[in-house]
Amino acid sequence: MTDLSLAGETPACATDGVWLACVECGGTLAPFADVVYRCPECSGLLEARYADYPGFEAFSGRGVWRYADALPVDAGVSVQEGDTPLYEAPDVAAAAGVADVRVKHEGMNPTGSFKDRGMTVGVRVAERLGVDRLACASTGNTSAALAAYGGRADTPVLVLLPAGKVAAGKIAQAALHGARICEVDGNFDDCLDVVAELAARGEAYLLNSLNPFRLEGQKTIAFEILEQSRTATGEWPDRIVLPVGNAGNTAALYKAFRELVAAGAMTDDEMPALTGVQAAGAAPMVEAVEAGRGRTERWTDVETRATAIRIGNPVNAPKALPGVYETGGTAVAVSDDRITDAQRMLAGDGIGVEPASAASVAGLLALRERGEISADERVVCLTTGHLLKDPAAAAAAGGDTTPVPADADGVLDAL
Ligand code: F0G
Repeated sequence: MTDLSLAGETPACATDGVWLACVECGGTLAPFADVVYRCPECSGLLEARYADYPGFEAFSGRGVWRYADALPVDAGVSVQEGDTPLYEAPDVAAAAGVADVRVKHEGMNPTGSFKDRGMTVGVRVAERLGVDRLACASTGNTSAALAAYGGRADTPVLVLLPAGKVAAGKIAQAALHGARICEVDGNFDDCLDVVAELAARGEAYLLNSLNPFRLEGQKTIAFEILEQSRTATGEWPDRIVLPVGNAGNTAALYKAFRELVAAGAMTDDEMPALTGVQAAGAAPMVEAVEAGRGRTERWTDVETRATAIRIGNPVNAPKALPGVYETGGTAVAVSDDRITDAQRMLAGDGIGVEPASAASVAGLLALRERGEISADERVVCLTTGHLLKDPAAAAAAGGDTTPVPADADGVLDAL
């Protein structure tokens, strides 16, 4: 049984009030003594735990490290991640017909996705552990972020990508930031299996979202959404709609809410309803939620234009599904065409996102049509990656170019 309770005594293995706990068997581990990704007893997922959980008054400064009191290490390898905008989106709001819609644009992070939040923390922990190689499997964004942060930390980076299924901008980033890029004959889930084995053999430090410290950084998305929403509207959102791949963000946002409850800064009822969106061709989380299950079943054949979330085995599902259920959220699958429509709609509001990110808006619209989101709700859609990550998808979704001669009359004739 997954146990995500934060109550309990600080175990003797804690270091500076931080330890790792297995969410399945409850076993505890010293945080920085050995390199571990799963419980050595039962293989359950691990979660960082703290002797004290801070409320909002403890937060100061900007970006991810504003929330240092809620993080396991002090600021280290940083390129000013976090502090991303919470935009109004008039076209989306009109189409959705709900009380308020905001777009939290994580594409405005240094490497263009939310992954930077996880890497600033995860790479800092890697330094503390003294590892000599960092690695990840990736649909693209994780590899771009890890390459950048590994570069800044002067630590070699190995990335495993599904051959032919990663958007051009992301590969370009990983290459320029100096990662060793291996293109695997398989999908993302196969890449993750391989890199997890390399990590288990001690060949590299794994920085996928299986790594509990990375999710600590991503937790700050929730803190920012809550603080920015209150500043902008005086209220916290009723619902946060987000794309789901490995379900790391879903798990991380739920952890932030649980910590705020533990700190007395939020009540259970105030937790925004976590609402996950997947592409119809890669929707194991949606399948699990529709069946009311606490586990996903692996999809071996996955396909979607939203390559970032072309994932059939969401490793964080055991942490994320309770978050969906406990917050009164849900999960929904959307077609690729609806994702592209949402990408265009966001673009019309001046917000440029990659396809996976637009899934959040597509999901909001689909759930409104089904009557599963009511008109009085205040909703935040999370857009996880920048438009320029996937130039081919953007160009295909946008209008065509017009060839013209090099004179003004020729241009006017063509219009
Ligand atoms: N959106 C984007 C743009 C992503 O890159 C990802 C994951 C997700 C959503 C899904 O987030 O895993 O927390 O549910 N990308 C990973 C990668 C898998 O390798 O870049 P999640």
